[in-house]
Amino acid sequence: MERRRYYEGILRSTAKTFGFREVATPIFEETELFIMKSGPNILNEIYAFQDKGERNIALRPELTAPVVRMFVNSMSNEPRPLKLFYFGQCFRYERPQSGRYREFFQFGAELIGNANAETDAEAIALAAAMIKSLGLREYKVRIGHIGILRQMLANANVPPERLPEVLQKLDKKMYDDARDILGSIGVGDDAADEIFDITETVGGKEVLGKVSEDVGSYLRELVDILAAMGVVDVEIDLGVVRGLDYYTGMVFEAEAPSLGAEKQICGGGSYSLSELFGGEKVFSTGFAIGFDRILLAMEKEGQKFENTGVDAYVVPVSDDVRTDAARIVSMLRGSGISADIDIMRRKIGKTLNHASNVKAKYAVIVGKNELKENSVTVRDMSSGDQKMVRLDDLVSLFR
Ligand code: HAM
Repeated sequence: MERRRYYEGILRSTAKTFGFREVATPIFEETELFIMKSGPNILNEIYAFQDKGERNIALRPELTAPVVRMFVNSMSNEPRPLKLFYFGQCFRYERPQSGRYREFFQFGAELIGNANAETDAEAIALAAAMIKSLGLREYKVRIGHIGILRQMLANANVPPERLPEVLQKLDKKMYDDARDILGSIGVGDDAADEIFDITETVGGKEVLGKVSEDVGSYLRELVDILAAMGVVDVEIDLGVVRGLDYYTGMVFEAEAPSLGAEKQICGGGSYSLSELFGGEKVFSTGFAIGFDRILLAMEKEGQKFENTGVDAYVVPVSDDVRTDAARIVSMLRGSGISADIDIMRRKIGKTLNHASNVKAKYAVIVGKNELKENSVTVRDMSSGDQKMVRLDDLVSLFR
């Protein structure tokens, strides 16, 4: 938990650096919220049940729909753009394996603003900064645009209700299955091949020659803004499809190759949900980092987490100074200095060993003779250097 809290703190402060504000939503929602966009099939993938009042409720599988619901209910009058972030657990009825759990944590962000490249760039730049701030070395960011495939499939007369199953196969690059489904809808092999070719398109800005002028220039502008923000290690990949149904425009993913099969550490893009929940139509974009997964990737890279101990460990030299020692530890704590004290009545040598084991930075040794001069001995636990310090100066020394 200490390790998790430490990294969670880094992500939180990175989000604040970008001007995002933290929000939280309930762990469960009306099941309808998650069915609305994805249809009843999603019930197979989530924890959904009836409560005692026979209400259909579900444990949230993600936080985008809940945050947009909250925006529609209570934040629609807030000044725009709205830049929100969250950290919380999600539940999915998955087949558990390494990096894929039924309960997992997401650190995510949602932006509600204007439909321009700066808004999408802000989301990708924050995701990249977060991944970097954790110290992960090996990762890849891939940016695509789901509008391209949606348009091609619409042009091929794929009815909207068949879109999710086709996109799902394209997401997994299961081209034979996709060809079968497309065939059953009456889409010929040539049209199918054209679609598959787009999903295999990867590279720099030059690959955008293949797509329509408006999407191409949008993505070019996005990549330029990202470069200006120092996010240069991105790749254009028109095969980024995403597993959720609400995306409409830019989509992106980050992956850590060290993780093998479950390597996706972050996913996001721009989407449309607000009007579905009874709100106004707004431009929204966001992402979520899989917190458990990114910690796993850092572990795989050999990143070690070392907890730090208190600043001061107060060590009474003899039993007759324990009350004075209690007063001293309390003075330090009251001044905001992390301080601990021996409560095991150990001898001085053992207490110093313990202080070193729990990684205290300094020992404050309280002895009878020093106390007569209103002083204590402060010992640097890493170098072993020690000096006498007057009690009046102790707090300012630690500060
Ligand atoms: P997602 O891709 O479904 O997107 O999930 C985001 C991240 O959560 C994944 O990249 C992955 O790292 C992690 N994740 C997903 N499922 C599991 C699991 N079973 N166990 C461990 N980690 C998992 C979303 O959820 C969207 N709401 C992201 C978003 C926000 N799009 C726009 N705004």
